[in-house]
Amino acid sequence: MTIIAPSVLSADPGRLAEECASVAAAGANWLHLDVMDGHFVPNITFGPWIVNAAAGAAPVPLDAHLMVADPLLWGPVFAQEGAHYVSVHAEATAHLHKALSAIREKGARPGLALNPATPLSFLEPVCGMLELVVIMGVNPGFSGQPYIPETAERVRQASRLLKEKGSRALLEVDGGVTDKNAGELALAGADVLVSGSYLFRSPDRAKAVRDLRGA
Ligand code: DX5
Ligand code: ZN
Repeated sequence: MTIIAPSVLSADPGRLAEECASVAAAGANWLHLDVMDGHFVPNITFGPWIVNAAAGAAPVPLDAHLMVADPLLWGPVFAQEGAHYVSVHAEATAHLHKALSAIREKGARPGLALNPATPLSFLEPVCGMLELVVIMGVNPGFSGQPYIPETAERVRQASRLLKEKGSRALLEVDGGVTDKNAGELALAGADVLVSGSYLFRSPDRAKAVRDLRGA
């Protein structure tokens, strides 16, 4: 069954706890935390406090997606705060192996996120360390952007590569996911679908979760 991970970036920030609880009650499996530092991407969201806030609101695994220029600094911090998965961007650091190891040492499951134009070959050297691979369906920075159609083919290729390497990493798609492309992405090998605007704007969130899963 496809794991649905709502991105709290699309939640009403004034009612954060209520919003987290609402999507969990709607049947979503995880919460996806989009952390932006204003350097790696042209937007700023929230710091490590979001982990405790989300954990207090809904009893689900927390999936921290760090769009930050210094993954080696922030990866272990979010792991220490208690995020279950902490993903960093391949494009952000010259010290990827070190950053992933530091996340693991602090007790979280390391993930690697790849921008739409980043070669999948970045996965190969660190495959054995990863528990999550995040294929971006948009250029990171904002929710509500249109889905890049080449994403499904990248998911297919990443899925093949992970299988060949005997990796146990889950494959996640993040950005632009709706009921229109969820089926294709799941067929391509996606285990986890992040949903921001589609899910939070839906008048019936339980139906939206079912539609993403069943598409
Ligand atoms: C983009 C974020 C995504 C995004 C998802 O930088 O990583 O998680 O908020 O939002 P939608 O589903 O609206 O594209
Ligand atoms: Zn994200």
